[in-house]
Amino acid sequence: MTLCRYWRLDRHPEGNTRFERFLSLHEEACAPLAPGEVRIAVEWLSMDAGTRMWMSPRTDGYQPPLPLGSRMVGLVLGRVIESLDPAYPPGVRVRGFGQWADVATVVPALAGLEVVDETVADPRQHFGALGMNAWTALVGVREVAAVRPGEWLAVSAAAGATGSLACQIGRNLGARVVGIAGGAEKCRFLLDELGVDMAIDYRAEDVSARLSQVPGGVHAFFDNVGGPILDAVLGNMAHYGRVAICGMIAGYDSDVAMPGPAKFDQVLMRRLRIEGFFIPDFLERGAEFLPQLRTWLDEGRLAVRFDETQGLENVPAAYERMLTGRNIGKVIVRL
Ligand SMILES: NC(=O)c1ccc[n+]([C@@H]2O[C@H](COP(=O)([O-])OP(=O)(O)OC[C@H]3O[C@@H](n4cnc5c(N)ncnc54)[C@H](OP(=O)(O)O)[C@@H]3O)[C@@H](O)[C@H]2O)c1
Repeated sequence: MTLCRYWRLDRHPEGNTRFERFLSLHEEACAPLAPGEVRIAVEWLSMDAGTRMWMSPRTDGYQPPLPLGSRMVGLVLGRVIESLDPAYPPGVRVRGFGQWADVATVVPALAGLEVVDETVADPRQHFGALGMNAWTALVGVREVAAVRPGEWLAVSAAAGATGSLACQIGRNLGARVVGIAGGAEKCRFLLDELGVDMAIDYRAEDVSARLSQVPGGVHAFFDNVGGPILDAVLGNMAHYGRVAICGMIAGYDSDVAMPGPAKFDQVLMRRLRIEGFFIPDFLERGAEFLPQLRTWLDEGRLAVRFDETQGLENVPAAYERMLTGRNIGKVIVRL
């Protein structure tokens, strides 16, 4: 009999702290697999800011709210231990949407389950340079923000998982990069390890005043945050600039919709294009993204710092760490 420990969503969270008030840890025997299901011994869990939207009761988000009493969902990386799908035999390492659990049970098509490449030296890179955050950064920078060599790209939440990859992808595509992040240590990381051209500490500096120093203005903005940072950038965009709306983390601690930007008039004044995008819409293009990302990884041009917590029982603390900005790089939990 296989036992499974998992986190259950009991209440909708308030704010972005102390998730153990809204989640509870349970242990029970796994039910026999249903036809087509796959069972995974989870090695790592990915902590993703977007998951916070699933925990909210909002019905106008990008997916319906997770019903209270459900197992908490999230990306998992681990080995198949039992399978009723011959495409995922026991022993293979896979990544997909599972549960915050030590043993995840999934339907491969619904989970976006993939067998990962075992030749990658550090398997965590399947949550890093080869993972969903990297796909998001690649689509956002190259296709939505359509950055061109020599242009200025600004990135918010730049020291986090998605932002740090967006900065490097912009740099690799020949752009000059401005990273916006909270704190001096994050700005040093951006300048020294990611090689951005300008780092702005939004907690200590006037973002708009610093951006006004970008010669000719910001051509492309990869926004993870929304709110006051989006306003500061809109007022400093170059004419015909592009804004890729990747996330709005400044509003994820609330159950009400985030108001639009105060400087929305700049969309007209500067002839801007603003476009939201959502990586699950691009999942079938993974095979197209991976060769470029793998090349950059192997060349040392796509570095990922992992912020790793040990143990399923510490998932709420790791999740809070990420949402409250105490992380540099990708937050994961090792089981
Ligand atoms: N569109 C998509 O398909 C897609 C896919 C993946 C991720 N995303 C989005 O990408 C963003 C980053 O997610 P992630 O999972 O990679 O997390 P992450 O960037 O590793 O961690 C979140 C970061 O957000 C910053 N932050 C939190 N609250 C903030 C606020 N009020 N104002 C400014 N910055 C704040 C914090 O950094 P500071 O210390 O710098 O504040 C924190 O480190 C999220 O908005 C997420 O929804 C979107």
